[in-house]
Amino acid sequence: MLVALFPTLCLVTVIHAQLCRPDAENAFKVRLSLKTALGDKAYAWNRNEEYLFKAMVAFSLRTLSNRETIEISNVLLCNITKRVSFWFVVTDPSKNQTLPASEVQEAIRMNRNRINNAFFLNDQTLEFLEIPTTFGPPTEPSTPTWIITFGAVFFIVAVGIVLLIISGIHKRRRKSKASRETGDVEDKHETMVTIENGIPCDTLDSKEGRINRAFPADDEKFTPL
Ligand SMILES: *[C@@H]1O[C@H](CO)[C@@H](O)[C@H](O)[C@H]1NC(C)=O
Ligand SMILES: *[C@@H]1O[C@H](CO)[C@@H](O)[C@H](O)[C@H]1NC(C)=O
Repeated sequence: MLVALFPTLCLVTVIHAQLCRPDAENAFKVRLSLKTALGDKAYAWNRNEEYLFKAMVAFSLRTLSNRETIEISNVLLCNITKRVSFWFVVTDPSKNQTLPASEVQEAIRMNRNRINNAFFLNDQTLEFLEIPTTFGPPTEPSTPTWIITFGAVFFIVAVGIVLLIISGIHKRRRKSKASRETGDVEDKHETMVTIENGIPCDTLDSKEGRINRAFPADDEKFTPL
């Protein structure tokens, strides 16, 4: 049994070695810059990280229709270097062949953000050398910076406007407070005049005017407390 199994295992590894090698058909090179991306917090690229990478690639391919049978074991890594770079291929579960490069490219491109996030890396520090980032790499990093600058300027202007409005309200309140002290006397004088005139329309108007003015006056007396 074991004797029979051993050659089979050898054959499988030989086939895998043949499928996954630098510049092989449908093979992709990946380069990681962990130190650049994470500095002192850089983690070591080990077998568990490799496993996660294989899982992310398998997951990405499974998101394509008709590729739900892809397993982690279908993703092969090879020629892993210490300052981390490696090659990978994805084998077709039904044949001893690799999946077409176009399919792998599409799957990786569609799931690029999730793959980056799994490793705390970005398009510059996790490079798929044969898979260009979604829509041209030069424009992508510059757009967010521009948006951030615009957002900051917009925020400052908005804060300035709010401060102006608030200070305007304060000034007007102070003015109306000052004028009320003299205005009260005038009000009394005015009512005296309207009563003396005895014209109903005028009285009504002035009453309304007085009531309206009385409300904000009361509010202002109590709000500061
Ligand atoms: C890749 O790895 C294989 C097997 O370990 C080795 O024979 C080959 O020379 C390596 N190729 C490169 C370009 O490092
Ligand atoms: C793999 O496929 C090739 C032809 O595509 C065939 O000759 C070979 O026997 C196959 N190997 C296995 C292990 O199925």
